[in-house]
Amino acid sequence: MLSVTRTALRANFRTFCTTVPRASASLHTLPELPYAYNALEPYISEEIMKLHHQKHHQAYVTGLNAAEEAYAKTDSTKEKIVLQSALKFNGGGHINHSLFWKNLSPKSDLGGKLENGVLKQAIECDFGSVEDFKKKFNATTAGIQGSGWGWLGYNPSTKKLELVTTPNQDPLMSHVPILGVDIWEHAFYLQYKNVKADYLGAIWNVINFKEAEKRLVKATS
Ligand SMILES: [Fe+2]
Repeated sequence: MLSVTRTALRANFRTFCTTVPRASASLHTLPELPYAYNALEPYISEEIMKLHHQKHHQAYVTGLNAAEEAYAKTDSTKEKIVLQSALKFNGGGHINHSLFWKNLSPKSDLGGKLENGVLKQAIECDFGSVEDFKKKFNATTAGIQGSGWGWLGYNPSTKKLELVTTPNQDPLMSHVPILGVDIWEHAFYLQYKNVKADYLGAIWNVINFKEAEKRLVKATS
């Protein structure tokens, strides 16, 4: 009799559990890096990559899930307005970093290799040469005051590649992001200290132009 009661209780509990809405379910998760933490050395150190991915990006994911959960739970318009900045900051951080990891590749793999194709042609058309493009990109990105992101973006109105910057963790909305570089100090300070120019000079060795070209092809097709 006792065992029957326990069985019934367990059955009822299972039914109860499966019918309760899971308001606390996490919607966003930290994506895996497409290479090892030390794979971008000597240009970006293992220490930076571990901290950047496991701590910083994870914090944006955690913050975004918390903000979305709080937004879903409240009926207060004022509280929803207050949550906007957390959604923008953490959501932008998650979007930007997810894109950034794919922008990079070890030198022994795709890193730094810009082969003949639509991206190279477009860069030469819009910036004169690949070297001029890199110089302009670095100058524009180094000019960001405080933390932010430097972008090569495709402008659907002008149908050109253009250099853009965004402050903080604002995602690129005015253009289709083709290539993004994180210029927050957490992305380079442990290795390059305050010399942004050295970080920006080195990163081209591990830029994944194949991924950038895929984005450009998608944006223009
Ligand atoms: Fe970052």
